[in-house]
Amino acid sequence: MAAQDSPREQWGSKLGFVLAAAGSAIGLGNIWAFPYVVGSNGGAAFIIIYLLCVAVIGLPVLLAEVLLGRTTQRNPVGTFKSLSKSKFWHSVGGMGIVAGFIILSFYAVVAGWSFGYIIEAARGVFFDFSNPSDAQIHFDSLTGNPLWIVGMLFVFMVITMSIVLSGVRKGIEKGSKIMMPILFVLLIAVMVRGITMEGSSEGLKFLFYPDWSKISGTTVLVALGQAFFTLSLGMGAMLTYGSYMSKKDNVVSSSLEIVVLDTSIALVAGVAIFSSVFAIGLDPAEGPGLIFHTLPNVFTRMAGGYIFSILFFILLFLAALTSAMSLLEVVTAYFVDELKWSRKKAVLILGSFALFLGIPSALSFNLLTDFKLFGLTFFDLTFYITFNIMLPLGGFLISIFVAWIWGLDKAVVELQKGAESLFEKGSWRVNLWRIFLKFFAPVLIFLVLLNSIGVLDMITDLF
Ligand code: TRP
Repeated sequence: MAAQDSPREQWGSKLGFVLAAAGSAIGLGNIWAFPYVVGSNGGAAFIIIYLLCVAVIGLPVLLAEVLLGRTTQRNPVGTFKSLSKSKFWHSVGGMGIVAGFIILSFYAVVAGWSFGYIIEAARGVFFDFSNPSDAQIHFDSLTGNPLWIVGMLFVFMVITMSIVLSGVRKGIEKGSKIMMPILFVLLIAVMVRGITMEGSSEGLKFLFYPDWSKISGTTVLVALGQAFFTLSLGMGAMLTYGSYMSKKDNVVSSSLEIVVLDTSIALVAGVAIFSSVFAIGLDPAEGPGLIFHTLPNVFTRMAGGYIFSILFFILLFLAALTSAMSLLEVVTAYFVDELKWSRKKAVLILGSFALFLGIPSALSFNLLTDFKLFGLTFFDLTFYITFNIMLPLGGFLISIFVAWIWGLDKAVVELQKGAESLFEKGSWRVNLWRIFLKFFAPVLIFLVLLNSIGVLDMITDLF
């Protein structure tokens, strides 16, 4: 039966939507990327810019995406098709599908590491380390092994595919309700252990005392990319999840809850990791391996560290899994809805394709380290193109579309459904959203994008 013939599924409750969307948002972006991106971009000053990006750009765009999906009850391409006749806007939906596909390919590589680390933790290898740097050496030897890294990528992708195959919504909604609270508790435990380590205060200083001299145009670009990535914005993932939402539920409060959950998890992960990085004397700017180099050292120093280490990597894996499922779900929804593929065919073909595309990313850490395109390895290149370009560009176009093409008046009518109480209390919040979506978000994203391709430098050079 074609997807249209059956009634479209909906979340069981508003809480179900919030936790599933938080499950998509909370993932490697919070626990793996946020700490190392903060570490490589100077600490506190970066965090402040990131928080501003989340509040001024992320939240308004998140609202716009969820609202678009809930209004049309369709996938990204279908949404633009039902609201506009222009091919240009249809292709914006298409760009989201492509971005989701590329993100999934490199995301699964790192998610595979988290899976592999469950095995390392269970084997107790962390307890054989005699020196903090042994954790780094161990990580390098694992990722340096093409068989290990491709094997873990394969396992992770197959698990993701099998869940999306057998109906994600119930899986995601139920799974997220159980997994998210446990993840939060565990992270807090790791954070407490981190803070109580001797020498951890340097880490807190790094996180909370801004050094503005470390901020450049690139920093702002990275902060914006991080805001989009961590909230799963700019490619229609939140739009797709919003399309399963009922008009009785409040889009505004749901979006706010997602942002608060996502941001607090990132900050807790930041504190947990930086207190121990400084206590152990590691380099905060060492890049993608950061959590795998630091956390094993924290586990060996905490009571119950063996159990905690296994649980932690299981949860990291599950957090990554709920995010990867949302990426594959968007791509699948498009092929099922618009091209009338069966769900099975879509998941098997698209998942295998993403797996295939993930292989050169995985090999970027060993066989292909010296193979560079535009000076970047394949992994770094796919990361850069989506994180720094496609997601901000997608967010820019979505805000332009809602504010200027679909029109804010129509959008506000939709926004009001399920959020009547908010409107009764006065409309200043709604007006704020209008202004942010119409002017702030597009202008700021545009400037950041211009800067990233060097146009602003050229202009300032003229003066
Ligand atoms: N937000 C997830 C994370 O932080 C990753 C993710 C899932 C994502 N779906 C997305 C990123 C869609 C961008 C777009 O790990």
